[in-house]
Amino acid sequence: MQAYSLIAPAKINLYLEIIGDRPDGYHELAMVLQSVALADHITVRANGTERIQVHCNHSEVPADQTNLAYKAVALMANQFPDAFSQFGGVEVTIDKSIPVGAGLAGGSTNAAAVLVGVNLMWGLGLTQVEIQELGAKLGSDVPFCVAGGTAIATGRGEKLSPLPSLDSLHVVLAKYRSLSVSTVWAYKTYRNQFSSSYISDDAGLEERRQRVHSGAIVGAIAQHDGGAIGKLLHNDLEKVVLPEYPKVTQLRETLQLFNSLGVMMSGSGPTVFALAESQAQAEAISSQLRAALPDPDLEIWATKLIANGIQLAH
Ligand code: C5P
Repeated sequence: MQAYSLIAPAKINLYLEIIGDRPDGYHELAMVLQSVALADHITVRANGTERIQVHCNHSEVPADQTNLAYKAVALMANQFPDAFSQFGGVEVTIDKSIPVGAGLAGGSTNAAAVLVGVNLMWGLGLTQVEIQELGAKLGSDVPFCVAGGTAIATGRGEKLSPLPSLDSLHVVLAKYRSLSVSTVWAYKTYRNQFSSSYISDDAGLEERRQRVHSGAIVGAIAQHDGGAIGKLLHNDLEKVVLPEYPKVTQLRETLQLFNSLGVMMSGSGPTVFALAESQAQAEAISSQLRAALPDPDLEIWATKLIANGIQLAH
């Protein structure tokens, strides 16, 4: 029986700006997304039944149809019913390293890996773009997670333009194990507080969408200027998450005391990251943070930026 093992990297947001409302109820965003080496391992295999099964070694990850990996198989079965009846059900095993509810796209990258794996297992021959189009039906971050690397993301987050690789840079991720933030809550709260500043006309939205391509952080990435990138990190969702989660604010302020390129919250949080120019600098930041906040609930990863999304595990 054929099985595929895949590596599903987490993502961070180097830039997240909320521009306005969309007719579909989502927000119009201007983002720069970045893959990191911290990754889950996913295996997809035919299970000889007609069912979809999900197993995960993390107690907070549901194994039922609410899991985005489950939804990814269901979507493939629905789109390719002949392949589903030919090859039968699929068992997905998720070996989780990416923290859950963290703002690191853990669920989205698992779904992306399932789409890539099932495409191979069923011999569908879908292109990366076709897989990304299917991924957009599952979640706004899924298309990025398929291709990964460094990219501008607009629309809901699904319209992607690749940027030059930043894979010589490193990053420290820090998250309190017991804290998680609901993405739905973060965006809803932002809308309640800031919708008066949203761009609402089509021309204004299109102008802003175009402008992100010549934004300062995009220029800094093109020049591979880590110092400038660090100063230009931005995340609008900090405005609602930080006041609600004082421990995240304290974590962010503590990370800022150390020598790094820049510090920011990722996505809807509560993970905070510090960008570093070398592995040695990332390791120094990790140990300084551990010494300053010796709380066993605080998890810290020193990892690196990478230039790829889903890959086959060797
Ligand atoms: O697309 P995804 O299911 O990952 O998004 C989770 C939630 O985040 C959405 O239900 C929505 O509340 C919010 N969101 C948004 N605008 C976006 C992306 C996400 O409002 N562009």
